[in-house]
Amino acid sequence: MASTKLVLSFIITFFFIFLLLPSHAASHSDSQMVNLSVYYEALSPSCATFILQNLARIFDDDLITITNLRMVPWGNARVNKTDSTTICQNGRDECFLHKIQACAINVWNDVDKYYALIHCIEFLVIEGRHSDWQSCFNSLGLSEKTILECSNNGTGAKIQVFYGYETAHLDPPHMFLPWVVVNNKSLGKDYRNFTTYICNEYKGKVQPDACKLHPPDNVSSIKEQNPVHPV
Ligand SMILES: *[C@@H]1O[C@H](CO)[C@@H](O)[C@H](O)[C@H]1NC(C)=O
Ligand SMILES: *[C@@H]1O[C@H](CO)[C@@H](O)[C@H](O)[C@H]1NC(C)=O
Ligand SMILES: *[C@@H]1O[C@H](CO)[C@@H](O)[C@H](O)[C@H]1NC(C)=O
Ligand SMILES: *[C@@H]1O[C@H](CO)[C@@H](O)[C@H](O)[C@H]1NC(C)=O
Ligand SMILES: *[C@@H]1O[C@H](CO)[C@@H](O)[C@H](O)[C@H]1NC(C)=O
Ligand SMILES: *[C@@H]1O[C@H](CO)[C@@H](O)[C@H](O)[C@H]1NC(C)=O
Repeated sequence: MASTKLVLSFIITFFFIFLLLPSHAASHSDSQMVNLSVYYEALSPSCATFILQNLARIFDDDLITITNLRMVPWGNARVNKTDSTTICQNGRDECFLHKIQACAINVWNDVDKYYALIHCIEFLVIEGRHSDWQSCFNSLGLSEKTILECSNNGTGAKIQVFYGYETAHLDPPHMFLPWVVVNNKSLGKDYRNFTTYICNEYKGKVQPDACKLHPPDNVSSIKEQNPVHPV
């Protein structure tokens, strides 16, 4: 009897631990979350720089706890109406990396995990080694199986159509990349200043530290920074 009780209490404890696992999204109610949408291209240096230097900071402080980050890899890609293939501004490799990143975003649905992968790939892009993208799965200890499946079985292409549609219907339309939108407000050239906009949009009661500090976002050389993985 005692052992049955023990097993039962184990199961209950496990269940509660599972429920209480710290999840970024769970720390603030969804209605208070501020949407931060980033429209970007995988092989664009300005997008890679933004992802590595500016955007990565939302994981350093607690800004991510009030932010619903939405990465949209598509940018200036378009669809060839004759054969429905995607044509990317920086070539076929870019289309492929968009599909990999789109799959990571949607299959994992875990911002820490997919941002780590995107961060790693974009670091390789800056270093001119984007063909090494597969090494990112190993170095981060992430499984590539479902991501490659998604990319090969047509799911990735479907997500891409969705991202293409969303990007084409931006209002106002994007003028350059990265194009950053906070709760339906386009930041335009002020895109690096997303912290201020997020904090202004945030209507929750508990003010995150990031909004108290307002750290200045400035641009310094990427090479000076060690690659920071948010996992
Ligand atoms: C679109 O697809 C057709 C058929 O495959 C091809 O002949 C054409 O060159 C493509 N257009 C562009 C801009 O790639
Ligand atoms: C494609 O692969 C993904 C990832 O494994 C899976 O979730 C999805 O159901 C698959 N879709 C099809 C049509 O096989
Ligand atoms: C944030 O995005 C979600 C869809 O992802 C949407 O339902 C919601 O209305 C958006 N919130 C704001 C404040 O724009
Ligand atoms: C988003 O902004 C556009 C114009 O900037 C406006 O037409 C649209 O109604 C807004 N949508 C929401 C949900 O606020
Ligand atoms: C960021 O945007 C806010 C609101 O528009 C503005 O007050 C602030 O000066 C901007 N900061 C920088 C560094 O551009
Ligand atoms: C960038 O920020 C650092 C501190 O984070 C500061 O030391 C440096 O002077 C700033 N650079 C510029 C150009 O504002």
